[in-house]
This record gives sequence, structure tokens and C-alpha cells, in this order.
Amino acid sequence: MDQTPTFQWANEAIPLSLPSKFILPNPIRPDRTCVSHLYSIPIIDMGTDNEAQLIQGITSACKGFGFFQVINHGIPLELCKNVLDMITKLLHLPYEEKSHLVTTTHLEDGKIFKYYVKDQQTQEKISMWAESFFHTWHPHDHGFTHNLPNNPPQYRSVIATYATEVGSLIAKLLGLISRGLGLERDYLKKKLRENLSYTAQANYYPPCPNPELTLGLPAHTDSKVLTILLQEEGVTGLHVLKDGNWVAVDPVPGALVVNVADQLQILSNDRYKSVYHRAVTNEEKKRVSLAMFVGPNHDTVVEPIEELIDENHPALYRRYTFGIGVSTGGQGQMKNH
Ligand code: SIN
Ligand code: FE2
Repeated sequence: MDQTPTFQWANEAIPLSLPSKFILPNPIRPDRTCVSHLYSIPIIDMGTDNEAQLIQGITSACKGFGFFQVINHGIPLELCKNVLDMITKLLHLPYEEKSHLVTTTHLEDGKIFKYYVKDQQTQEKISMWAESFFHTWHPHDHGFTHNLPNNPPQYRSVIATYATEVGSLIAKLLGLISRGLGLERDYLKKKLRENLSYTAQANYYPPCPNPELTLGLPAHTDSKVLTILLQEEGVTGLHVLKDGNWVAVDPVPGALVVNVADQLQILSNDRYKSVYHRAVTNEEKKRVSLAMFVGPNHDTVVEPIEELIDENHPALYRRYTFGIGVSTGGQGQMKNH
């Protein structure tokens, strides 16, 4: 996605009606697209003793929705709350205090930015109703925190603790996903371990005067291997595309949302799907989320896993170097980090 700075920061007064620079063209307004409440994405209990059932649940979620929520994932809920609290505090700082963190050109480690989409007809930039903070992270090497703000004072230590926890969860999930593909438990870990890159995006969506006219994040797929999303409880914003319908992902207390990203679709030779999703806004409540992405490094060669190719399943992608930015070729060009 493109990013640009614009007005409407998290701590500003909300205007009574949506300023024109946020108004999307008709076909991509959320009110024009059907939102289904018929299905919900699978909920996977990571605390179960029945591993066969756990693998089966994750496998079927990766094949179907490309999304699932995990409960009993082992990350303390108090820590999750603290993370969202830190993000809220950071993005609520007066603009003068956070202006040195704002980037206007390209995504930068430890910088705040705003996304926009281009109107296909006029090429005009239309701003999203959100403010995002991008940074790298690492499960064990906490040197990344030096690129994070030191106000709020606990931001660095809280994110460092969370990064270690999310790293363990990702390791567990990669093991279960490998098993679900009929591979050794450490297959994906071994394939990716030396070459993993870690990025994160914190999102803040202020209450919006006209949520039917704008989006918090436009429809996109995630470009890496796996995404772990922590979202605020009590407010729905994430929608996932399923069979042509947008499905609302209501937050389940204590759950984290996991989704398959483009490189896992390629590695799995399309057994698993990297699915379009978007964030909508609402009139009453702000919403905060944190997406932790894990994926290959720039120079990693990606290709469908050899063991998953046979005469009935020919390779669907050529091998390529991740850094040159090949995607799974969905309907749009939006990619998230
Ligand atoms: C969100 O639900 O707020 C963010 C979703 C995403 O990172 O794509
Ligand atoms: Fe995303």
C-alpha cells in the first residue's frame, strides 16, 4: 500500500462529517460491498492435548478462510492489553511530540505513516482513516527496540516481551503448519530460519463520522509468510473476503488472529490461501491493532516446496527472489509488509 502523511491524527478532534480527501470512490466503499454474518473464521484452541485435532483444525482453516483465531495461545492476556495500551498512548501524543516520528516518503523503521489509495479514474490520492506505526522486531535480539520511541516510557520493554512471546507462538504454528502439509515438524522452520525477517505495524483507527464512505485499511493480502494480529476487544474492524463476501472478524476475548500470507501460499503450492482482508471504521469507538509479520529476507529464494509437487500437483510458481516483490497475483496490488 502507498503511504502519505495527511491530517486527522489519533489525538485530534473528530470532524462532524468526513473531509473529502477520505471519501472513496463508490465501488470500493464499504457500504457497497456485502458484509456477511453467516460465517465466522475458525477458532482454534492451542491449549488442547489433542494435537492431531489441532493440526487438522489449522490445516482446514489455512485451506478455507486463510484466517483463524487462536485461543489459549500462551501469551499472557495482561501483556496483550499492555501492548494495545502502549500503542494508544504513543499515537495519542500531541502531534508536536510525535511529529519527529512521522515519515512522508516511504516506510521507515520506527516511523508513523498514513496509507492512501489512488482513485483509478482521477489518480487522486485518497487517505485512509487510520494512522500506523511501522517497525522491525525480533523474537530474541531486542536491539530493534532502539528504533522505537522512548515515550511512552514502557513502549520498548513491553514490545520486546511481546516479541519473544509472538516468536514462540510463530515457531509453534510453523511446526503445526508443516505437519499439516505432511512434512516434518521443523521443515518450514529449517527452510526459513536463517532467512527470516520480522516487521510490525500498529494501527490506530479514530472514530469516523462517515464509516460507510471510507476505510481504515484498503483490501490487501499480506506479503510475507504468516501474520499474527492482536486486536482490541469489543470493536469489530477486520473483514476477510470469503467466496466474494466480506466476513466480519469479531474479536474473541483473549484471541489472536492468524493469517496465511503470500509466501506461504507459494511455498504450499496453493494448498493454503493468502486471502484479501481490509479494516473498516465505526462511528463510536476508536480501534487499535498490532500486526506482527514474519517472512523471508530480501535475498531468500522462494518456490513451491518440492515434496508438495507431483504429477497431480505441478508447481504453480517459478522460483524467485523474495526481494524482487513477486506476489500470488490476486485481484489487487495492495500488499502489506
Ligand atoms: C486490522 O485489523 O486493524 C489490521 C489488519 C491488517 O493488518 O491487515
Ligand atoms: Fe493485512
